[in-house]
Amino acid sequence: MNRLRSVDSEAAALVEAELKRQNTTLELIASENFVYEAILEAQGSIMTNKYAEGYPGKRYHGGCEQIDLMEDLARQRACQLFKTDHANVQPHSGVNANLAAYMALIQPGDTILGMFLQHGGHLSHGSKVSITGSFYRSFFYGVNPDTELIDYDDVRSKALEHKPRLIIAGGSAYSRTIDFSIFREIADEAGALFLVDMAHIAGLIAAGVHPSPVEYADIVTSTTTKTMRGARGGFILCGKDRADAVDRAVFPGTQGGPILQNVLAKAVTFKMAMQPAFRQYQEQVVKNADLLARSLRDRGLRIVTGGTDNHLLLVDLQPANLTGHQGEIILEELGITVNKNMIPFDPRPPAVTSGIRMGTAAITSRGMKEDEVSEIASIIATALGEGENLDPAPYRQRVMELCRQFPLYLDPLEFAAL
Ligand SMILES: Cc1ncc(COP(=O)(O)O)c(C=O)c1O
Repeated sequence: MNRLRSVDSEAAALVEAELKRQNTTLELIASENFVYEAILEAQGSIMTNKYAEGYPGKRYHGGCEQIDLMEDLARQRACQLFKTDHANVQPHSGVNANLAAYMALIQPGDTILGMFLQHGGHLSHGSKVSITGSFYRSFFYGVNPDTELIDYDDVRSKALEHKPRLIIAGGSAYSRTIDFSIFREIADEAGALFLVDMAHIAGLIAAGVHPSPVEYADIVTSTTTKTMRGARGGFILCGKDRADAVDRAVFPGTQGGPILQNVLAKAVTFKMAMQPAFRQYQEQVVKNADLLARSLRDRGLRIVTGGTDNHLLLVDLQPANLTGHQGEIILEELGITVNKNMIPFDPRPPAVTSGIRMGTAAITSRGMKEDEVSEIASIIATALGEGENLDPAPYRQRVMELCRQFPLYLDPLEFAAL
């Protein structure tokens, strides 16, 4: 930071202010996490200086000896970690990975079947506001209105009715285990290909705490962020039979040169995910989410599906007479960051919503366990119970105390000086 400060004090001040915000608030956004310092170093490395269109051994630029070794290392580690034959580590993000995967599997105008956004799917699975909704004819399956679990009968009947070329599983706000084997059976019955977007749960899958989609899906896409706790970016996994199509769809199909400092950081991310400590970390993430859901439920809040099997949970704020938007603002005043989120069959629009989504990956990276989660649940439940009459000051103090005990990228003295 010293160099940045000396050439651009305004930019440095923004980083410092953001470091302070991250340190002094509780991050419960389910798609966020705090990366290891090794990842920060890799992403800030001189690998950013290089251009390397193409793939190891087949580049359109010279001077790629180290870059080829680096990309091979990232690819091999991804294959080893997820037990698959081929990995493409160039996608700049999760959406880019999905676009390339679609290009590898289907044609513009083909029919796709994804999970309804409101029920936990993702924009890039065919939403009308995404390019995926204008390139492809999209249909959606949803959750059962009583259980709020994926309605596999609905998936089957939509698949048989619309005959999609591609069925997509995975999403951004689904808190239960996904049965990839049933999806595969349905895809086979309907004559469809099957893609799993595991972006949210990739870390859990890498650690073996959620079943892997690799043996069931034609292609798996992901980000290295969220539960993977790594670099910004995406990746794609597939068998040997689809390797060429996937590689061509990433470059030149949908991207130019890879962002090489991120490819390096992905290699490090995959290595970290192979360590025993990563499995312990993921187990703690799931324990923390389960405890948070149970504690909020015991204090009278309604949890969509009644609980969680993974790192995230959705709280329905309708019984508390609050909108998701109000809930997000109330918690933000205390220093707890969450996001408003549609719940299944939500009567409110996306800018308001009836729910909030929470995840435990980031607080677990700070080292927080059951004691801290119980305290966080008590703060959240009381604050939401009091609603807009709340005096935030004492709760903000309790949040600060938790943050102070688990500093990020700082030692306690540096934290005190923030
Ligand atoms: C399931 C899923 N797929 C794809 C993405 C998109 O990832 P990115 O923002 O890296 O493009 C997200 C992001 O939240 C996601 O939840």
